[in-house]
Amino acid sequence: MLLNASGCLDALAAADVARSLDAFVTKTVTPLPRAGNVPVRIAETEHGMLNSIGLANPGIDAFLTDQLPRLAELGVPIWVSVGGFCAEDYAAICDALDDRGEVAVVELNLSCPNVEEAPESAAEIVARCRSRIWKPLYAKLSPAVPDVAAVAVAVKDAGADGLSLVNTIRGLTLDERTLEPRLGTVTGGYSGPALKPIALAAVHACYRATELPIVGMGGVATGRDALELIAAGARHVALGTVLFSDPGAPGRIRAELAAEAAARGFAAPDAAHSVAHRVPVVITDDGTAAPIAPV
Ligand SMILES: Cc1cc2nc3c(=O)[nH]c(=O)nc-3n(C[C@H](O)[C@H](O)[C@H](O)COP(=O)(O)O)c2cc1C
Repeated sequence: MLLNASGCLDALAAADVARSLDAFVTKTVTPLPRAGNVPVRIAETEHGMLNSIGLANPGIDAFLTDQLPRLAELGVPIWVSVGGFCAEDYAAICDALDDRGEVAVVELNLSCPNVEEAPESAAEIVARCRSRIWKPLYAKLSPAVPDVAAVAVAVKDAGADGLSLVNTIRGLTLDERTLEPRLGTVTGGYSGPALKPIALAAVHACYRATELPIVGMGGVATGRDALELIAAGARHVALGTVLFSDPGAPGRIRAELAAEAAARGFAAPDAAHSVAHRVPVVITDDGTAAPIAPV
């Protein structure tokens, strides 16, 4: 399944792009409206983009009355990204979403680098939400932790049905002439091509540790990028930064993905799922396969 990454597509402004996806993920919604951070909030760099949007959104009440009914008219499943500043913020939004038929999945944004973090752990937030919602819950994690697989196991044990990997990583960019920070908040979330190896490592480690369904994202710009995430363990792939420069990316990447999979002998892209986890084997003298002993 091909999705957009949260915050990287305004489906109401670009309905055709949203309809070219298998599901639409909303910008993160918080309990109260947020204007977001001071400008400048986006800066391009050599290998990616820095943003410090700061979860600008209309708040859950306006989202439910104004936006959600219009998003539902797109005809694609809607995933709602949920944010907050304490576990109860997340849980209260889950309460409000649970009986909304327009919502297919709830993605808990547990990892925005541009706002203050909730004091509770990711697992505590998932556990609190799990007790308040029946819908599938995906936990979106940061790769900027010492052991992302340990966090993945903890959120699985707390009731997460899936993982979204990865969010941006904090970065800094300086003005070429003045050498002052280009973003109003000094640092921002780094996204785009440079994130791909980090995303691959996180997906690989978290799939191995949990076998949960994973939405892989981070620097996907081609079908080959998507195929690599699937091989590392992702069931679904999300497009983020690429959508800003190429709104036609979903159709292009879908076609490239099918061709890249076929070129490697896979009947369909799904057939490449988790092949990066195959244990290398040798064929022994009696013709059976045995794992290669670690050196
Ligand atoms: C401008 C911008 C806004 C974003 N807003 C959100 C957000 O509201 N919630 C969230 O979970 N992630 C947000 N992200 C992170 C993306 O969903 C994604 O995790 C990240 O950009 C990595 O994917 P990419 O390299 O393909 O962009 C945002 C990213 C960008 C570039």
